[in-house]
Amino acid sequence: MRTFESLGRTIIHGDALDALGAIETGSVDLVFADPPYNIGKDFDGVGDRREEGAYLAWCHRWIDECRRVLKQGGSFYLMAATQMMPHLDLYCRTRLTILSRMVWVYDSSGVQARRFFGSMFEPILHMVVDPRAYTFNADDILVEAKTGARRGLIDYRKEPPRPYNQQKVPGNVWALPRVRFRMDEYEDHPSQKPEALLERIVRASSHPDDLVLDPFAGTFTTGAVARRLGRRFIGIELSEAYVKTGLRRLDIPSDYAPEDLAKSKRRKTKNRSKHDRGGPVPGALDPMDVEPDARAVGESGTA
Ligand SMILES: C[S@@+](CC[C@H](N)C(=O)[O-])C[C@H]1O[C@@H](n2cnc3c(N)ncnc32)[C@H](O)[C@@H]1O
Repeated sequence: MRTFESLGRTIIHGDALDALGAIETGSVDLVFADPPYNIGKDFDGVGDRREEGAYLAWCHRWIDECRRVLKQGGSFYLMAATQMMPHLDLYCRTRLTILSRMVWVYDSSGVQARRFFGSMFEPILHMVVDPRAYTFNADDILVEAKTGARRGLIDYRKEPPRPYNQQKVPGNVWALPRVRFRMDEYEDHPSQKPEALLERIVRASSHPDDLVLDPFAGTFTTGAVARRLGRRFIGIELSEAYVKTGLRRLDIPSDYAPEDLAKSKRRKTKNRSKHDRGGPVPGALDPMDVEPDARAVGESGTA
């Protein structure tokens, strides 16, 4: 296990369970966990699939650790494959209070599943330790309320009648684009989450200087957003390649040569081509538009 630190930003290169064990109880304000999904993805040469019971038992261990390190007023967001989330939901509700079950929905303009209804969403749990006292900065995450802002309607149920609100707190369906090859934030990783998604979570559930923890940091999207919003951050990641991405994104000094940390913009080519999946499908232009590995198992993709 190796640690890199600078100005309230920490990267731990190692196994999540080992690293979590070294974090002080009740010290973290916000956890965002986006673990390997157990659907056959390849993270820098390490496959994520194992027997379902073993996968769930492993998840229970790090979920308990995340719960342990959270403060009394802390929040915990968990993403998982659609197949696994029902099991994890049942487990988490015995340990935390689940406030919302969100879906992150995205468009996929290219290849779609042809033998079942392809996955176009990923589930997210929003949980808190104490439902009577938790951080939720509603005013920092407002989105346009279309009825009020675009249609300019008057709400005649009010006395006196007045225009509908122009802004509102987002509901539990989050329509945000996936990270595409042409976007500046794109990194070489099979399940990078967009900054816009983490920005909503970090703004809603933490304050400046609060401590945000991501035990499966990947491309360090959570860290990049935490840094930009003035939060402290701890990110844990097993792969050295992704740790290097984190060192660059979080601007943490290390003994790696600058060229070792340079961004390599390669497409996420692990997605199998349309021909491998049993026949060409019209409209497959961009590998990022292919539902990742979903057709092999049915149901869940994951960006
Ligand atoms: C779904 S990805 C996270 C993606 C991340 N949210 C992002 O936006 O880039 C899961 C990550 O967990 C890492 N990982 C897998 N097993 C791990 C372990 N035991 N400890 C720490 N990290 C692990 C993988 O290398 C992968 O980068």
